[in-house]
Amino acid sequence: MKKLIIALFCSAVSFSATAGGNIANGKALAEKYSCAACHGKDYNSPIDPSYPKLAGQHKDYLEHALIAYKRGDAPNGRSNAIMVGQVKPLSNKDIADISAYLHSLPGSLVLKR
Ligand code: HEC
Repeated sequence: MKKLIIALFCSAVSFSATAGGNIANGKALAEKYSCAACHGKDYNSPIDPSYPKLAGQHKDYLEHALIAYKRGDAPNGRSNAIMVGQVKPLSNKDIADISAYLHSLPGSLVLKR
């Protein structure tokens, strides 16, 4: 019984590590694909005001947005030509990892209450 509980605990931990995304891998991917070239080196200072800040944004929002660019013109997709090109090489796991990384950064996006 004790072993079973430990096994369950371990699988819960490793599951949440996957669901949460791998921040270190996300950082490496963001560097590899030069996301900062447009979104700013700290992801808070994009090179153009029309380019969104990403630092600290909710992980599921980022993931959802990136998957929408992958869908492109399809229903529930996003068709921005720049970002559709950017997400082409990314797998769903890459997207989860990059989103976890961006979410982990200190951001200037705030919730007004
Ligand atoms: C050549 C410039 C450029 C590069 C490089 C770039 N982006 Fe973008 N990104 C943009 C622009 C412009 C938008 C706004 C597009 C729109 O209006 O839909 C955007 C939008 C986004 C959004 C949606 C944000 C939101 O609030 O809806 C995410 C997430 C994002 N980019 C992530 C990335 C990631 C991750 C990379 C690297 C793999 C990357 N971008 C590389 C220009 C760029």
